[in-house]
Amino acid sequence: MRESGILLWQTHQVARGMIQPGVSTKEIDRAVEDFILANQAIPLFKGVPGKVPFPAATCISVNQEVVHGIPSERKLAEGDIISVDIGIKLNGWCTDAAVTYPVGAVDEEKARLLQVTEECLRRAIHLLGEKTRWRHIARKIQKYAESEGFSVIEELVGHGIGQSLWESPQVPNYYSESLPDFRIRPGLVIAIEPMINMGKRDIRQLSDHWTIVARDGKPSAHFEHTVAVTENGPEVLTRGPNGEGWAL
Ligand code: CO
Repeated sequence: MRESGILLWQTHQVARGMIQPGVSTKEIDRAVEDFILANQAIPLFKGVPGKVPFPAATCISVNQEVVHGIPSERKLAEGDIISVDIGIKLNGWCTDAAVTYPVGAVDEEKARLLQVTEECLRRAIHLLGEKTRWRHIARKIQKYAESEGFSVIEELVGHGIGQSLWESPQVPNYYSESLPDFRIRPGLVIAIEPMINMGKRDIRQLSDHWTIVARDGKPSAHFEHTVAVTENGPEVLTRGPNGEGWAL
């Protein structure tokens, strides 16, 4: 899974290098898919079943789009924020990671949303080495995001991951007494992916059957890593070959 994670990190660098005003989200997706295929890996999002199968290798979600945005002819503009989410399979092993970038200079509130969402993921990874139950981590993520004036999406959650992209358990970013919980123990591998809205937490799906947007039209951010729990603590499988990456 670490080999898959390194390739996914490198794939993310292909996308990152293209992000600037005037570039279409479709151009980014094409470069991402080409890179994945050139490295004998499988882009896992392409063809995911739905009312229409997901048509691209990359989910690209801009501004008030939360997740599952479909790459298009839309051109990025200065001041946008863009979430890039990619899942791949290499030699039978899946990894999943997402990051939200500013396009050029963004306003202060958007910059703070990115910082806080990245910090939610950083704290969650760190707490995997300290807590024994996920719900205690989820509660801390939610408290932190809300203390910054933002809100946590509840309808979408992280997930176990391994030979399949979506495995049990579900990994929510919020706390509720009634949610199923799981134990943090060596061998567990999960995709942790806080999705944080600047405004209210309510979301809706666009008529393209995929794109999830914030109902109030305010920006949303998404950071994700695939993380293994080992005897020596959490290991971020989707960091770079030299240990670099977001939320570390
Ligand atoms: Co995921």
